[in-house]
Amino acid sequence: MTPTANTEMVEICSIGEIPASGKLCRDINGHKILIVRGESGIHVVSALCTHESFELTDGSVVDDTIECPLHGAVFNLVTGEVEFGPAEVPLKIFENRVEGESIFVSILYGGA
Ligand code: FES
Repeated sequence: MTPTANTEMVEICSIGEIPASGKLCRDINGHKILIVRGESGIHVVSALCTHESFELTDGSVVDDTIECPLHGAVFNLVTGEVEFGPAEVPLKIFENRVEGESIFVSILYGGA
């Protein structure tokens, strides 16, 4: 029998905590996530590149994309899709919501 999965929106930081670089890394429930200020707003994505798990915290953000500093893969911050290799697997995207100064993210509990 498959366990039931639940999601919950949890507050992860305030907008004011995001440094001038536009990126903030947090550990939530065992997920290393990156909060990024992109062109179209706040994005919350996995902090680890899908190519060789290099941390994206120091990656360059251009418009709504982030480039991995190790081998140059580029990911779309809205869809997670790979826009430029060598990565082939999309970046995990976390649903988020901004309320006033607070940023909330949808975290999965339970499930497989
Ligand atoms: S680890 Fe990110 S592109 Fe290779």
